[in-house]
Amino acid sequence: MDDADFPADGFYVLVTGANSGLGLGIGCRLIDEFLHTRPQSQTLVLISTTRDTRKGAATTAAFRKYLKDACRKAERSIPGFTMLLQRRVQFREEILDLTSLLSVQRLATKLKRELPHLDVLICNAGIGGWTGVNWPHAIWTVLTDTVHTTTWPEFKISGVGWVTKPQLPKDSKGNQPPEPPLGEVFCANLFGHYVLGHALMPLLSAAATEGSGRIIWMSSIEAPACDFNADDFQGLKSSNAYESSKRITDMLGMTAEMPSTAPWTSTYFSTTSTPEKHAEAGHEKSSKPRIYITHPGICATGIFPLPWILALGMTAAFWLARWLGSPWHPITAYKGATAPVWVALAEQGMLDAMERREGRGKWGSATDRWGNERVERTEVEGWGWGGKVGEFSKRKGRWRHATDLTAERRAEFEELGRLAWTEMERLRGGWEGRLEGLEGLE
Ligand SMILES: NC(=O)c1ccc[n+]([C@@H]2O[C@H](COP(=O)([O-])OP(=O)(O)OC[C@H]3O[C@@H](n4cnc5c(N)ncnc54)[C@H](OP(=O)(O)O)[C@@H]3O)[C@@H](O)[C@H]2O)c1
Repeated sequence: MDDADFPADGFYVLVTGANSGLGLGIGCRLIDEFLHTRPQSQTLVLISTTRDTRKGAATTAAFRKYLKDACRKAERSIPGFTMLLQRRVQFREEILDLTSLLSVQRLATKLKRELPHLDVLICNAGIGGWTGVNWPHAIWTVLTDTVHTTTWPEFKISGVGWVTKPQLPKDSKGNQPPEPPLGEVFCANLFGHYVLGHALMPLLSAAATEGSGRIIWMSSIEAPACDFNADDFQGLKSSNAYESSKRITDMLGMTAEMPSTAPWTSTYFSTTSTPEKHAEAGHEKSSKPRIYITHPGICATGIFPLPWILALGMTAAFWLARWLGSPWHPITAYKGATAPVWVALAEQGMLDAMERREGRGKWGSATDRWGNERVERTEVEGWGWGGKVGEFSKRKGRWRHATDLTAERRAEFEELGRLAWTEMERLRGGWEGRLEGLEGLE
């Protein structure tokens, strides 16, 4: 579709890793909830990113089919509705490899040239970096401690020391310029998105609706404090690089609005350039985007690659956990998408009021035993549910090893948040400097 076809006042949402699992679930749920909750005059522009054109085309085809089916259902109750609904959602696909900072920067440059603004960036794509399973431990714990083990499994075996391919292109003599290592899991889950978020800041700052753009991070319920080591920030020596990347995500998100992190967040949120498109579209206002942390609970996706028979067994164990009372087993990607989609579409005033009342939170997708989905605040170690000492803590679905928040732990968490912002900004500055001037970048 030609750019000219995209409305200047549309609601633009970009979802990374949209071709499978939760990315697909987020797209479908976004279509449903947008059509049901937003005024008829508003158009959703759903931008999906995938790693190649084949996956991009298949993703758009899947979303188009989903929209068509949704319209067909609506048509049964209100004849003639299809025409109206179908016009309210437009699709666009882009290529993005988060482990290539050049790919990240090229996409941002292209989008800044072509989009009027971006309302929501959903940082969904990610990898586990796991290489196998400790089967005897897995079988024993799933059979004897189902709910806990299927929520916080301790049997996954992770790759250690994985780094990305070289970021810088070879020089004219075919030599590879020297560069520091970049952790692959760290970059796919966190750093690539972080760099993308900053590069898209001019578009997010010009968000048309709701007052400010939003960056929604997909964290995990599995992000314990013990898996983060400040001396191994990228998790290169860790056997829990995935959990480490999610722990940093939580630390960045919970502390993003604090005065103590302001020296770093102010540079991160700064807009270095303003695209001409903003002026053309009449968006002169500019407001600081907001960061939100969400997680999907536990869903049966391909993030942990298993042969189909074992994947079936895993899904059965998830159902059992839900039936035994776990709130954290949405199981399907559509239900797992509840929290990120809710945050994407919620009114800014409501989100602000909730944060003022109960503090900044991590929003999780949860269900009851029958699979009715809801959004639920989730505990973050060292932060609690809202960063408030003395919060009510007898909540369902709490991690077995969780302890109540104390003032000391709260202070430690804030210090860790400061450290995380400092290091992320240092890394971003370093890599942007190395990439400066390369072809295709502004
Ligand atoms: N499933 C769960 O229970 C669960 C629980 C907690 C958190 N999460 C989080 O939810 C998010 C989505 O996971 P999922 O379960 O939906 O897994 P998934 O089905 O494996 O989907 C991951 C997506 O990320 C994309 N991706 C991977 N590496 C990438 C890269 N370097 N550049 C760009 N895209 C890349 C994948 O693209 P390809 O198809 O090209 O590989 C795929 O589209 C992740 O952040 C994960 O940590 C999932």
